[in-house]
Formats: sequence, C-alpha cells, structure tokens
Amino acid sequence: MMDRRRFLTVGAIALAAGLGLSAPAAAQESVKIGLILPMTGPFASTGRQVEAGARLYMSKHGDTVAGRKIELLLKDDAGTPDQTKRTAQEMVVNDKVSFLAGFGLTPLAFATAPISTQAKVPTIVMAAATSSITEKSPFIARTSFTLPQASVIIGEWAAENGIKKVVTLVSDYAPGADAQKWFASAFTENGGEIVEEIQVPLRNPDFAPFLQRVKDASPDAVFVFVPSGAGAAFMKQFRDRGLGEAGIRLIGTGDVVDDDILNDMGEAALGTVTAHHYSVAHDSPENDAFVKAFKAANDGMRPNFMGVAGYDGMALIYQALEKTGGDTDGEKVMEAIKGLAWTSPRGPISIDPKTRDIVQNMYIREVKSVDGELYNVEQETFEAVKDPAKEG
Ligand code: DHB
Repeated sequence: MMDRRRFLTVGAIALAAGLGLSAPAAAQESVKIGLILPMTGPFASTGRQVEAGARLYMSKHGDTVAGRKIELLLKDDAGTPDQTKRTAQEMVVNDKVSFLAGFGLTPLAFATAPISTQAKVPTIVMAAATSSITEKSPFIARTSFTLPQASVIIGEWAAENGIKKVVTLVSDYAPGADAQKWFASAFTENGGEIVEEIQVPLRNPDFAPFLQRVKDASPDAVFVFVPSGAGAAFMKQFRDRGLGEAGIRLIGTGDVVDDDILNDMGEAALGTVTAHHYSVAHDSPENDAFVKAFKAANDGMRPNFMGVAGYDGMALIYQALEKTGGDTDGEKVMEAIKGLAWTSPRGPISIDPKTRDIVQNMYIREVKSVDGELYNVEQETFEAVKDPAKEG
C-alpha cells in the first residue's frame, strides 16, 4: 500500500524537479507543529502560558532540528471540543502537520485522540491532566501532569499532618473526578475521613453556595481542584465566606494557587498547602534561567505549570526529532519519545516508555510571602513519581 506520506514525498520531489530544485532541498521541507490552545474564553490563561513556554523554548534553541526547520502553527479552539477536533483535522489534512500539541482541557484532548490514532500523528498533551488521556491513543504523550500524581501526595500529607476530616470540592468533569477519587483513597487509607464530596460546575462557577456547605460541615480542611485560572474567583469567595477564620484549612493540587495569578490573591492564600510539580520559586539554575527569560519575553508575566509544560513539550519534540534524524514518521517518533529524560525547570523528568506519561518530582508547597510577593514555597520532594492510576 502506498501511504499518504510516501505519495506526498514522491509528489514533492516531482514538483521540486519541475522547479529546478534538487531532491535534497525538497526533503528539507519544514516540520509543522499544530499547536491548538484556548486563546480566548475562560481558559485563555492556559493558552497564553503554553504558547509563551513553547515559543521561549524555540527562541532559546533555534528553529532547526536535525537539519529541518520547525514551524509552529497556532490555532485558537476557545476551549470547545468540537472546535479542537475540527482544527486538528484541518491541520492534519490541509497543513500536513507532523505533530499536534497543546490541549488546554481534558475534553479537548479526548476529542482529538481518534484523529491522532487514525492519522498516526504524535500528539503532545501540554496542559490537560486526566490520567486516562494517554490511554486514548498510542500516539499521545504528555508533558503536563496527572491529577492522581498530585492528589495522592497531598492526601497522604494531610493524613500525616493532623487533618482528620475533609470536604472535597472539585470541578465537575474528568480531572475533578480523578482528583476526588485519588485524594480520598490516599487520605482514608491513612486514617482520614471524607465528610462530604462537592462538585462545582466547570464553567462560570459561583463558589459561594458550595463554600457555605463546606463551612456548615466544619471540616479540618477543604481539598480543592479547580482548573488553572479559576483559583482567583475561588480564593475571593473563600475569603468572603470567612472559611479561614472558621479554622478550615485550604489544601489541594497546585492548580488553585497557580503562579500566574497567585500574587493577586492576597492574604487569603497564605498558608495554602498543595502538592504539584512546578513552582516558579523552584530553586535550581535551570528554573532561574527559565523564569528570567520567560518574564523578559512576556512583559513580566510569571510562568506557571502550564508555561513550563509548553516549554517541555517543545523540548520533547526537539529531542525526538534529534533521535529520528529529522524523520517525522509517527511510529518512529513515538518510539523516540519513549524513555526520553532531561532536566526541566521543574526538576528531572522523563517519559515512561510503557505509558507515554510523564514521570516527575512532586513537591509539597506552602503559600508564603517572600520579599513582598506570594510564592508556593517547596517544602518536601517526592522523586520520580509515576501516574499512580497506571501502576500495578
Ligand atoms: C485540566 C485543566 C487545567 O487547567 C488544570 O489546571 C488541570 C487539568 C484538564 O482539563 O485536564
């Protein structure tokens, strides 16, 4: 069978010959990466961060890998799955992209997975974090994180640090379900008790009535997962309802205190303890350089965990192409991706060859004021954590 790529190559060489170009010049055509992100709508902060991270990687490492020019094609999906899917289709068929990348929310990654499989196009998930995403296609790999990775760590920490009763409050979609389930199992297995489970709408949530329910249950702590960007509205309601004064601690995955918006949350955020894979305050030479360059290129914007995952997503693509010598065949690229390992601004990371998911350090962090700014200050490190949902 003559596949599409082979056909295209033959066609391109014929065309090049007609134009008087040499065949090697045709073989050097650029590698296109279709970056699909929510650049508008309620999750635009995720798009802005991932794009900034990806562009920073390219500006630091050049736009040529293994002799091939890299071209980033950015499209806005406004955070709606139908649009993500249609855009992915167009990019594969019309633009002939060799990679798909981005995916600001889980439903957007789910919508694209069948296209990745059919077209055999390596698809790099740089934001979405439901565990099962990488199981939806053998052509998906991930540079963000999984909710179980973070939720198990904070569940164990809570049980070991005097917290006995918890209300869980999560956004009502797949990553929220992952967070709830894996936090609850780690916490209860270590002696904790879940007194209530609350789901809040993903879009335009009014947290006030839900936080009143938390207050009425008077737990030791509320465990929270909301997607990146939603933390500011949550924190405002947490303060306005006086949960802190009522002695209810705030714990969660790091999404609720994302570094992009943390500084504007004010005193209510102080003392929040979360588990996550990236803090802008991470102490390493790689992170110092990353944060400085990121801020310089983006009007002083702080990178958050989405920014670092965009940066690392491009690092993954560059390294995979180095390994294949610039060959973009989907199966060869996926083989090259498996087992890649490098030092990210977040710490050491690798791609699990079995699951194509990220293996990384997880940190327990507490929000503190340092030199007049709020930071997630890392206190404890758990090394090389795999996605717990895929172990065993
Ligand atoms: C997802 C989105 C987020 O913004 C986040 O912080 C975590 C997970 C998601 O939809 O998978």
